[in-house]
Amino acid sequence: MGAADESGAAEAVRHIFDSIAPRYDLLNHLLSANIDRLWRRRAARHFRAVLARPEASILDLCCGTGDLTLALLRRRSRGSQPILAADFSRAMLARGANKFGEHARKPGTPYAVPIEADALQLPIADGALDLIATAFGFRNLANYQAGLEEFFRALKPGGQLGILEFGEPGGLVGKAYAVYFHRVLPAIGRAICGQDVPYAYLPRSVGKFPQPGQLLAMMQAAGFANCAWRPYTFGIAGLYTAERPR
Ligand SMILES: C[S@@+](CC[C@H](N)C(=O)[O-])C[C@H]1O[C@@H](n2cnc3c(N)ncnc32)[C@H](O)[C@@H]1O
Repeated sequence: MGAADESGAAEAVRHIFDSIAPRYDLLNHLLSANIDRLWRRRAARHFRAVLARPEASILDLCCGTGDLTLALLRRRSRGSQPILAADFSRAMLARGANKFGEHARKPGTPYAVPIEADALQLPIADGALDLIATAFGFRNLANYQAGLEEFFRALKPGGQLGILEFGEPGGLVGKAYAVYFHRVLPAIGRAICGQDVPYAYLPRSVGKFPQPGQLLAMMQAAGFANCAWRPYTFGIAGLYTAERPR
């Protein structure tokens, strides 16, 4: 939204999330009628095999207030490697860290480690991760191709990628949803959060996001194999999956 370059765009995104962090969970669950929780759970279920391996190294990227991290943690067994949870907004991450602390109260419970980091420059060695999962964060990156290449670098050969993102459904559902998404949602967001920019940004960022076929082509160009997209709830959201070839 008017940023001159990629670093300006990233800074603007970070500022938006820092400013809405106190209201983020409330608005998220309210505006989606709680369906966002089901989407994250469903995405976690897709990766149940890798999550069940205690030694697997797992990163929730753009973890925000940590709801995907918690859905992933619920599928880890006692004594598993901690999940890394990264975000570049300190205010969002601080809320996530509080939830992780609550979750890990019982000794032996799988836990998460919050990391303040930029998705385009992960502080992770080459080929270190078995799974990178991200929910509603990828859309905000200043450069999608550079992001995919960075994820490819950090994954092990055979490692998996899961990107849960909003989409724009077609047909009649799409028409009704467009009215909600472009008119009703920004108005409710503005009323609750007291600011215009964040909830005007949401539909605009979804509007400029590539269509599934285009994003799948970008994943392949970054070197990924077995690239696929599964629509959730008429395509209002969807899970992109891919694998770094062995
Ligand atoms: C819409 S929130 C999603 C949070 C969480 N994953 C969820 O499912 O609710 C998007 C998050 O992505 C983070 N984010 C956006 N761009 C990022 C980047 N380049 N590096 C790290 N985090 C980023 C934002 O700070 C924000 O917390």
